[in-house]
Amino acid sequence: MRVTVIGTGFVGVVTAAVLSSFGNQVIGLDVDHEKIAKLKQSKVPFFEPGLEELLTVQQAAGNLTFTTDYQTAIAAAEVIMIAVGTPSTTAGGADLKYVLAATELLTPFLKDGAVVALKSTVPPGTLSQLEAIMMKAGKHNFFTASLPEFLKEGAAVEDTLHPDRIVIGATTPKTFEILRRLHQPFKAPILEVSPESAQMAKYAANAYLATRITFINQIADLCESNQANVQEVIAVIGKDQRIGQHYWYPGLGYGGSCFPKDVKELAYYSRQVGQGENLFNKIAQLNDQRIGQMMKKYAQLVGGWQGKQVAVLGLSFKPNTDDMREAPSLKVIPTLLEQGATVRAYDPQALESAQKVLPQSESLRCLDSLVAACDQADVIFALIEWPQIISFDFSQVRAAKTQWIFDTRNQLNQSTLTNLGYKYAAVGQAPL
Ligand SMILES: NC(=O)c1ccc[n+]([C@@H]2O[C@H](COP(=O)([O-])OP(=O)(O)OC[C@H]3O[C@@H](n4cnc5c(N)ncnc54)[C@H](O)[C@@H]3O)[C@@H](O)[C@H]2O)c1
Repeated sequence: MRVTVIGTGFVGVVTAAVLSSFGNQVIGLDVDHEKIAKLKQSKVPFFEPGLEELLTVQQAAGNLTFTTDYQTAIAAAEVIMIAVGTPSTTAGGADLKYVLAATELLTPFLKDGAVVALKSTVPPGTLSQLEAIMMKAGKHNFFTASLPEFLKEGAAVEDTLHPDRIVIGATTPKTFEILRRLHQPFKAPILEVSPESAQMAKYAANAYLATRITFINQIADLCESNQANVQEVIAVIGKDQRIGQHYWYPGLGYGGSCFPKDVKELAYYSRQVGQGENLFNKIAQLNDQRIGQMMKKYAQLVGGWQGKQVAVLGLSFKPNTDDMREAPSLKVIPTLLEQGATVRAYDPQALESAQKVLPQSESLRCLDSLVAACDQADVIFALIEWPQIISFDFSQVRAAKTQWIFDTRNQLNQSTLTNLGYKYAAVGQAPL
């Protein structure tokens, strides 16, 4: 099938590469000339395991090309997937300007019978805005659909090749038939639903996972008020089949490109439809406050940050990505600097993207060596559970000067660290 993916960000590039691996003729289209120039040379402008290899193979096979030209990309496309960004507006709603601009730009070249499918995360009702644009331009023979994306950064290729489910939100049998055919090779369950259900399901999935994180953070806070340990609590509740052991991450709250914005967009949507007094507003608020509250606790433990040297380990929002969107480091490091600390930060992959958003100075240096970042540190923050950080032998950097290790993801071996003479604080248990 001839498929065009508009927007070659995380979702777009992975989708284009995977669809081409199933023998489709795929074009990736973006307005960012620099990005397209890199992609044409099989260079992925961000870190995502396995993606560059897949891209190289598919481009060499002639199944995948990239362009900035709408006519080239759209004129022959049977399925057009829109995967542009939908950031939040200042009020918290989904900003649809990129989605609507892409629709305006594709419309003149749309061929009869083509399917325009939205992969971007959007609120219910968005498809009618796209349809209005296309019909205003005199186009009437097209189909629309919502195809929400559930991939996880850091495991995006695997998630896209082997999805838990494929959701097709559409209204006509023909649209379902075309998109079912396109997705058959994935051998995943295909759920055919209304566009609104597809859009709500995407928000519901992310809001649920964000709620789980916020829930266990609240339990962790209570554990710190007594002798409980949140990891032991998780072990107990996880045995209940209805609850399960998976996806419990007490820590500094959720970050990344999706959860914070999707929860806020759902909260905004709730207010729009007159149901603003609900869980989602509260979850967003609790998560926004989380790092500030935790930093106050840490400041008390170390007796204030003034004059302290701090090693911050892990800068991206999670392991296996260099994505800095809503990364905890973006709140932790400015707080430390404002309160008089010097920071030496380390990340195995995200140094380049981190330096774009964390200006380097005498007080802040981002380094490519974990050992160098910990040298002379009074305090070590293990912020992200990169394998390089959680498997590190901290005896290598043990210095009399270093007092505390703050394990904000509960991933380090506490008895090893306390035996080495560190003071150790995890989340949801009394500091040791
Ligand atoms: N990143 C994720 O993990 C993830 C997961 C599931 C869903 N989503 C959703 O998918 C959508 C895309 O997310 P992303 O992280 O890939 O975004 P991104 O910001 O990484 O990429 C968006 C791309 O769209 C391009 N673009 C903007 N306007 C354009 C236009 N008019 N024509 C062509 N290209 C244009 C940009 O240049 C950019 O390359 C969002 O709605 C997001 O919420 C993201």
